[in-house]
Amino acid sequence: MCPKLSIFAIIAITTISVVLAATNNKRFPKDFLFGTATSAYQIEGAWNADGKSESMWDNYVHNTPGFVADNSSGDVACNSYYQWRDDVNILKEMGVNHYRFSIAWARILPTGFSDHINAKGVKYYRRLIKELKQHNIEPMVSMFHWDIPQALQDLGGFLNPKVADWFADYARTLYELFGDDVKYWFTFNEPKTYCNGGYGFAYNPPRIPSQGLKEYECSHNLLRAHAKAYRVYDEEFRSKQNGQISIVLDSMWFGPASNTTEDKKAAEQAFHFELGWYANPVHYGDYPDVMKSRIAARSAAEGRNHSRLPEFTAEEKAQLTNSTDFFALNTYTGNLVSAIPEPAITDPPSRFGDMGVNNFYDKSWETTTLDWFKVAPWGMRVLLKWVKDTYGDPAIVVTENGYPDHGGLDDAKRLKYHRDYLSYTRDAMIEDDVKVFGYTAWSLMDNFEWASGYTQKFGLYSVDFESDDKTRTPKSSAKYFRKVCKTKCLVSKCVD
Ligand SMILES: *[C@@H]1O[C@H](CO)[C@@H](O)[C@H](O)[C@H]1NC(C)=O
Ligand SMILES: *[C@@H]1O[C@H](CO)[C@@H](O)[C@H](O)[C@H]1NC(C)=O
Ligand SMILES: *[C@@H]1O[C@H](CO)[C@@H](O)[C@H](O)[C@H]1NC(C)=O
Ligand SMILES: *[C@@H]1O[C@H](CO)[C@@H](O)[C@H](O)[C@H]1NC(C)=O
Repeated sequence: MCPKLSIFAIIAITTISVVLAATNNKRFPKDFLFGTATSAYQIEGAWNADGKSESMWDNYVHNTPGFVADNSSGDVACNSYYQWRDDVNILKEMGVNHYRFSIAWARILPTGFSDHINAKGVKYYRRLIKELKQHNIEPMVSMFHWDIPQALQDLGGFLNPKVADWFADYARTLYELFGDDVKYWFTFNEPKTYCNGGYGFAYNPPRIPSQGLKEYECSHNLLRAHAKAYRVYDEEFRSKQNGQISIVLDSMWFGPASNTTEDKKAAEQAFHFELGWYANPVHYGDYPDVMKSRIAARSAAEGRNHSRLPEFTAEEKAQLTNSTDFFALNTYTGNLVSAIPEPAITDPPSRFGDMGVNNFYDKSWETTTLDWFKVAPWGMRVLLKWVKDTYGDPAIVVTENGYPDHGGLDDAKRLKYHRDYLSYTRDAMIEDDVKVFGYTAWSLMDNFEWASGYTQKFGLYSVDFESDDKTRTPKSSAKYFRKVCKTKCLVSKCVD
């Protein structure tokens, strides 16, 4: 049979399931948290002000012409280091329950180590946190959102196993400085995307072939760092500070391309390679079995004596087991998955080969300004249910979900995106009893979108980057989100 024909058949079938359900009209629980998110490098600017040292991102962007789409940088960004009051004002205007932001390691510890604490950096975050709390906005704080101090990058960054101790010391410093006020901590943001972008062999073909082995080392050390930081809190702070800690994991959802046993198994395998890679260690102390066995087998076939996937020691496994107090999930899009014959052994090896399935989006799904990003909100329910079923029914907060475009205040598509993803979130809570306790829109405002510079916008507020005062203006989506925060309802009239 012509393989192309069968692909068409699959598309025809899956298109039927794409009819969107009506927006859920059941009010969210009273204590459900609605909020928005940002990260330090993407908004703060002031990259070398008041004792802050250079981060890896400062260094890389300054020294790699052509890396950022519009040749821009985060040197000024939204200028939030100076305009944090403006940020709090728009958070108040929307009436959010929480604000997720990150602390720049290089602003608190300029050497990377806890030998020298930068008082001006501490003052910046202290004032922000106090101001948030004064207005009943719960701070949710990421310790690391990709901006490692360059001083530590020069020592090998996340490829140096000592990074686990450096990070645990940094975490202890943060608990000491801010732990009386911060009750939700995240050790890391999106480690998968960080290790992939920094050290990775993305998909097929490998993006940076010479670095093809380093992504698993990065994630391994990062997981060890997470576990240590979690145990420091347990042992030295939890009884006094009573906060909760998690790690923000990003995953698309995966659905089988057909109802065959093979494709269903392939979708499960994709979930384990995408989300289980990190979620399994922090719940059960080790990588998913399917990752361990597949990578070991392929490593042997490549003529290696050791698996390319590192192994945790018994002590590390014990530290990692149950090292989150709730599940923090970022999600944007989804893919269909089909089974394929075992991919050929390649040199260098690829993550695609290790994963061993084919994943793709359906051509009928709504496109966006990013080619990997299709709108497929019904998968939100699939993803939440998978997390519930796989990790023992944890409490879940959606820490990022958002929509890219090229800008403009009339952002009907972004509004619809948040409404639909929230609707399927509510469905998951009601139909599948998933314990979701919060939703965080990425992002509070347009900001420096990494390699896309300022060409891709995710904000509920627009920022006039040309103006000196970086004026923040609400988009249609901000006005909708304000209504949702106020009424806990997605439509004009909800039932309780
Ligand atoms: C950015 O810089 C690179 C290298 O200097 C150059 O080739 C490219 O045309 C520039 N792009 C823009 C959008 O200015
Ligand atoms: C698989 O089966 C379910 C339940 O019968 C159905 O709703 C769904 O559309 C099917 N999916 C595909 C891709 O055929
Ligand atoms: C790998 O294993 C083989 C067979 O056990 C052994 O002969 C060889 O010395 C090992 N190579 C290395 C580099 O350890
Ligand atoms: C981890 O948490 C689960 C669920 O609370 C519990 O059943 C299990 O015993 C815990 N494991 C360890 C090693 O503490």
